Amino acid sequence: MNIQSILSEKVKQAMLKAGADEQCEPMIRQSGKLQFGDYQANGIMAAAKKTGKNPREFASEVLQHLELQGIAEKTEIAGPGFINIFLDQQWLATHLQQALNDKNLAVSAVEKQTIVVDYSSPNVAKEMHVGHLRSTIIGDAVVRTLEFLGHNVIRANHIGDWGTQFGMLIAYLEKMENEQAGGMELSDLEAFYRAAKAYYDSYEIFAEKARNYVVKLQSGDEYCRTMWKKLVNITMEQNQLSYERLNVTLTNADIMGESLYNPMLPEIVMDLKAKGLAVEDDGALVVYLNEYKNKDGEPMGVIVQKKDGGFLYTTTDIAAAKYRYETLHADRALVFTDTRQSQHLQQAWLITRKAGYVPDSFQLEHRNFGMMLGKDGKPFKTRTGGTVKLTDLLDEALERAEKLISEKSTALSTKEQLSVVEAVGIGAVKYADLSKNRTTDYVFDWDNMLSFEGNTAPYMQYAYTRIRSIFNKTNVDENTLSTASFNLIDEKERALAVKLLQFDEAVKTVAKDATPHILCAYIYDLAGIFSSFYEHCPILNSDNQEQKLSRLKLALLTQKTLKQGLDLLGIKTVEKM
Ligand code: ARG
Repeated sequence: MNIQSILSEKVKQAMLKAGADEQCEPMIRQSGKLQFGDYQANGIMAAAKKTGKNPREFASEVLQHLELQGIAEKTEIAGPGFINIFLDQQWLATHLQQALNDKNLAVSAVEKQTIVVDYSSPNVAKEMHVGHLRSTIIGDAVVRTLEFLGHNVIRANHIGDWGTQFGMLIAYLEKMENEQAGGMELSDLEAFYRAAKAYYDSYEIFAEKARNYVVKLQSGDEYCRTMWKKLVNITMEQNQLSYERLNVTLTNADIMGESLYNPMLPEIVMDLKAKGLAVEDDGALVVYLNEYKNKDGEPMGVIVQKKDGGFLYTTTDIAAAKYRYETLHADRALVFTDTRQSQHLQQAWLITRKAGYVPDSFQLEHRNFGMMLGKDGKPFKTRTGGTVKLTDLLDEALERAEKLISEKSTALSTKEQLSVVEAVGIGAVKYADLSKNRTTDYVFDWDNMLSFEGNTAPYMQYAYTRIRSIFNKTNVDENTLSTASFNLIDEKERALAVKLLQFDEAVKTVAKDATPHILCAYIYDLAGIFSSFYEHCPILNSDNQEQKLSRLKLALLTQKTLKQGLDLLGIKTVEKM
């Protein structure tokens, strides 16, 4: 159940009856302070202005028409014309019960869409870097959230598996295979790539061969295809290990690399030319966009085919957008890459729309993110200035978590300790990223992310185990609980109830805006509100049985909500720590 949309609907009806126009917006928001009720309508003043009425008078007319029987116990006008809404206790109790009965915590249904999510997208024969880490983590949390809401999600791992560099990589792979009888280990992709490049740059015969292989690969030569496939497989096998360590849901089946679109490019370029969008310019094909200006203030040219016939990253993204709509029948497509690719994507999509490949209703969204910075505020690097390898980063996370957990928790078996270390170490890295507003740069700081205080994975995981431990100390079973009712007498119980029912709103926001930090903030608030409830309202020591059961039910729903929330973020929970 989504409180905000229920109230929006009701208040809007009342506003219309009071004379507002169809466009009016009730602007229902969660109240920041208890005295302003649980929700407030902030759109009354603006609507009053349009009707020419005095805002407070208009507000009181709205109140006369507002039908919130059974939903709100009180409504009032505040300040210049806000409406404060105090939810009804019985109504809250009923919905808490529904949430508890439902495996999806009574999050309301949405219109099912097919949504393609392009994320992670590393490059073949290269190590994943921190940018891919962000894309992977954030993209996966959004994917989980969309699936939770019942959407048909298609994961698209848009790997960089095509381009002229493959001639050189194939030639080098061949050389290595010839020199090392019995195959070879390609564990260090970065070194492999560098060595191939060095060879290419210094030996003309090798370079010649490499260029020849590019042509052959593009024309479907079997040997080159096999060698190319080997490179893709080796890279993706290694990346798959990282996905598994990261508790990320991507598999090999989700790969939709650049090579998939390559056969579609000649036709697209021809079509763009036929439509008069692409024009020849010095041998290349260029689309001039009025919407973008070059440094001389003239329409910016975007190359879709080079002089030598080669295609570009932009052409591939035009094809990818078209493919999402035409072939995958998607309603919406999201791409998670860093902010620096913003202009590129917007231009590709503008061309896609101009060419009429997708209708206006088809949503193309670049969900960009900022950079991961070191403590010095500069792009995150190793001490020697190199790129940080994902595997090394995760190893360090586990080492640090192990130290932390062995200092803190002594009552765990070795096996338990291992799973706590894994959940905390990996969880900390992921949560640190997810909890920040994705569009800004953020500072990667081990000490912060591994702290048991603040909006961190260890804090959230610990909060979860604390609730679990309440249930370990009681013999009340779920059956007894299910017959008891929610009784919201204390202010803290009520506050917790309202927060629990706002899970729906947090999840819907993440699905709409692709902002997992909203869900992090929500569960962090929830854990905080639970802890103050727990301090003020004795649960197991309560001598009133009815109250004890009601409070246990609140604890149970909190536990489920935390777990579900963390699960949507791809963060593991443990039973004790
Ligand atoms: N492989 C690219 C990179 O490493 C990211 C691709 C993002 N997706 C896209 N459709 N352009 O930067």
